Amino acid sequence: LRVLFITSEVYPLCKTGGLGDVSAALPVALRALHSDVRLLLPGYPQVMAGVQYKYKVAGFNTLSQFPPASLLSARLSLSRTESIPVFVIDCPGLYNREGGPYMDAFGHDWPDNALRFGLLSKIGAILGSDISPIAWRPHIVHCNDWQSGLTPAYLHFYSGKKAATMMTIHNLAFQGIFPPGSVVQLGLPPDSFDINGVEYYGNLSFLKAGLYYADQISTVSPNYAKEIQIEPLGFGLQGLLAARHSDLTGIINGIATTEWDPETDRYLVKNYNSKSLSNKTVNKTALQQQMGLAVDAHVPLLGVVSRLSHQKGIDLLIQIAPQLIKIPVQLVVLGSDHPELEHLLSTLAQTYPKSIAVHVGFNEALSHLIEAGIDCFLMPSRFEPCGLNQMYSQRYGTPPIVHATGGLLDTVVDCTPVTLANHTASGFVFNSMTAASLLDTIKRAVLAYHNKKTWQSLQKNGMAKDFSWNASAMAYQELYRRLLH
Ligand code: ADP
Ligand code: GLC
Repeated sequence: LRVLFITSEVYPLCKTGGLGDVSAALPVALRALHSDVRLLLPGYPQVMAGVQYKYKVAGFNTLSQFPPASLLSARLSLSRTESIPVFVIDCPGLYNREGGPYMDAFGHDWPDNALRFGLLSKIGAILGSDISPIAWRPHIVHCNDWQSGLTPAYLHFYSGKKAATMMTIHNLAFQGIFPPGSVVQLGLPPDSFDINGVEYYGNLSFLKAGLYYADQISTVSPNYAKEIQIEPLGFGLQGLLAARHSDLTGIINGIATTEWDPETDRYLVKNYNSKSLSNKTVNKTALQQQMGLAVDAHVPLLGVVSRLSHQKGIDLLIQIAPQLIKIPVQLVVLGSDHPELEHLLSTLAQTYPKSIAVHVGFNEALSHLIEAGIDCFLMPSRFEPCGLNQMYSQRYGTPPIVHATGGLLDTVVDCTPVTLANHTASGFVFNSMTAASLLDTIKRAVLAYHNKKTWQSLQKNGMAKDFSWNASAMAYQELYRRLLH
């Protein structure tokens, strides 16, 4: 089974969030099941510099809507022993620039994003059709998020032999919306600009195009698959998704269990497992020292690693910070991408320097030390298609506190007398998205923390869970097979 996996991010070369992690780990897991999965990526500078053995396999000089581009074949090395084949689109005019994959250094979307990801989608479609200039022909083209959303549309309007398409939603809040003129500019038929097509409230939506034209749709947790079929989490696409519910499957993400393993994690000060949990405290002390917090093994240390978008609910945490200090607890936050929240958090850290520490920026190493060094991870997301940190946390013996939404609900079991007795309790879940409810739940967690037996059960239950990709990769493969018939 040959699969072209189109993505706009891949760890470790380019990652703004979970899509980068998934785009590295899922293809590896699928390849272990003998699917020939190859990535298609834009040639950002860090991708061009970071892949190995690259050579040109095709040129695209006659796509009238786009600047000339070349296709390179290369390998992406993920660890000392793992690497995957990738195709990279070399188009300096669209991708060779400093800044993020979607935004410039000032946080403004690149003005030519329609072309940048239109080209990614277009080349994905060509590689999935019988006019592909290369010999390797995929059976399935697997698109991820809006950046490859036009691929199923281009393929739909191609009448020759072509691959089946699958569209995975990692986050419905990002849709790739562009003015109506982009439809013709990107070479889509004018009549596709219709409610039964690529049109979304008077504009072109890349994601809607993908959801409308793909043969199969998936999203990253079973619970989110239900939530997006109704308001408010359908973000205007609930009607289409409900109409296509028989083609829509929720498959929970796994995690890269070799990257995220407290026993071998190279970023920790001291490695540990469920039998040597006392070594976890060494990381707590190191984290408190590194972040300038009061060094205290007994005070519960709460932590956040997150994009600071509205989705993640960090504003609620900011509201209750003064009450948290009084409990007492300490708080460490690693996050970026939101100047206003960054400022509010930094002000809190200045006001309570011994209790609250904030690191603004993206820092892979610190994110690992936080998972290991804190006692409890906070994820008060308003919505969360899957979420990865709540899984990293459980694996690190760091029970998470999460809002009852999306994949958080599928992966965290609330601590109650019943779940403690049946050894499933692994964190704390709150139902109402309010500051008061978050505060109550943190207080509930702190009570549990001070009961050593309860806390150790929570830690051990979480650490014993299987968050590997095995089962989910099999579920993807099952969907691929279904598409072949
Ligand atoms: P999302 O994709 O919505 O951002 P996920 O929980 O799926 O949320 O994935 C987020 C990923 O990005 C995790 O691997 C997390 O550790 C990482 N991450 C987020 N913010 C930062 C940051 N500031 N520094 C380092 N890693 C971060
Ligand atoms: C998105 C979602 C997150 C999910 C990730 C990977 O960015 O916000 O919940 O885990 O994609 O699928």
